[in-house]
Amino acid sequence: MKKTLRIAVQKSGRLSEQSLKLMNECGIRFNNGKSRLKAVSYNFPAEFLFLRDDDIPGYVEDGVADLGLVGENEMAEKAKDIELIKKLGFSKCRLSLAIPRDKEYHGPAYFQDTNIATSYPRILNQYLENQNISAQIHEISGSVEIAPSIGLADAVCDIVSSGSTLLSNGLKEVETIFKSETVLIGNHTALVEKKDLIDQLVFRINSVLTGKGNKYILLNAPDEATQAIVDLLPGMRSPTIVPLAMSGWNSIHSVVEEDQFWEVIEKLKEAGAEGILVVPIEKMIL
Ligand code: PRP
Ligand code: ZN
Repeated sequence: MKKTLRIAVQKSGRLSEQSLKLMNECGIRFNNGKSRLKAVSYNFPAEFLFLRDDDIPGYVEDGVADLGLVGENEMAEKAKDIELIKKLGFSKCRLSLAIPRDKEYHGPAYFQDTNIATSYPRILNQYLENQNISAQIHEISGSVEIAPSIGLADAVCDIVSSGSTLLSNGLKEVETIFKSETVLIGNHTALVEKKDLIDQLVFRINSVLTGKGNKYILLNAPDEATQAIVDLLPGMRSPTIVPLAMSGWNSIHSVVEEDQFWEVIEKLKEAGAEGILVVPIEKMIL
């Protein structure tokens, strides 16, 4: 029987759009009816299961899905027996404690003997234990941020991304207790039995993520500046130098890491580079 990868993605929410975009950038195409529970790819042996993010770690542990794209927050909270394959670097957020805006805050001791509403009791409990604070944890599964205003809790511990949910509920963020981004998780058995397919997918993801972390750069330089510029540009192996039609001038091509980008550009200009073009890289295979 032909093997198929079953990949769980969030049905709707902060992660879903970018998770599907990544699959698309990996060249995995499918007809996406959002209202459906499942979609089958027509050019890669994979099917997608659209689920609530909270349920994804459990489904991956049980083997209902072989892989899942989920927030590290859900992975840590559910503490299932699953494997973290790769951090994906998008949908970054944090789990924070927040209190009513008008309250004074001087440190974690604030939370002693309070009642805190959260959907993340395990992570919160760990934090409180580390801080030697005893507090009541009130577990609720949604709309945590309204708990203080309806008198259900003194504080909340919830996911913050832009911060607008806290702001519109009259709350202020006072402690960050966990940092999260989307991760690729896997079922232990599937990692063995479907290793070839999972390796193919991870290879594609790596090429996309590496490409995003780098830029292709092209510039012109006179002969006398060429060596100094080449020394500034490591490239994948070394830069490409192509003579321009005008004698005494070259076009130099290379790859620069996104993080070092602005610094390198400044130095290139000082060294005599002209007509600098910067182009995004769709995929990069090292
Ligand atoms: C979180 C959290 C807030 C919102 C915060 O929900 O519960 O509702 O995101 O985002 P903001 O700081 O940009 O306003 P999440 O996306 O995890 O959805 P879920 O709890 O429904 O799974
Ligand atoms: Zn959720």
